[in-house]
Amino acid sequence: MKIAIGCDHGGFEMKEELKQRLTADGYEVIDCGIEMKKEVDYPDIAKVVADGIRMKNYDCGILVCGTGIGMSIAANKIDGIRAALITDTFSARMAKEHNNANIVTLGARIIGIELAYEVIKAYLLAEFLGGKHQVRVEKLMKFEKIR
Ligand code: RB5
Repeated sequence: MKIAIGCDHGGFEMKEELKQRLTADGYEVIDCGIEMKKEVDYPDIAKVVADGIRMKNYDCGILVCGTGIGMSIAANKIDGIRAALITDTFSARMAKEHNNANIVTLGARIIGIELAYEVIKAYLLAEFLGGKHQVRVEKLMKFEKIR
């Protein structure tokens, strides 16, 4: 599984820690930036990760900013993306099982690293349930075609 990860300055430390923990747990993590703590605009990083998923270069993505809000708004504007802003493990599992989310966004100023990692593990270990949820996800994705 290829996981793309990215952040702005608000999420830099959390992104670095998540990357380290995921790599230690055997996941393949592609760091889409930022490489050092400097002020950047979250849409720029969200676009890199979201485009990579849309083009099927990665299986899923993690985007970290201060609140997770900007990253989720930005990523959800890219076709093919279902980004979920998550703050708890139940929602993390549901985001995959029901919504087949392909990006998790996190707010580093909202939750700590321990919960953030639990959230990511809950999401990664869950499976999309398909069936009626597939129908709903297909309806969601049709919104892209009526813009
Ligand atoms: C940056 O200060 C902050 O606005 C950003 O990290 C994020 O929280 C936006 O949604």
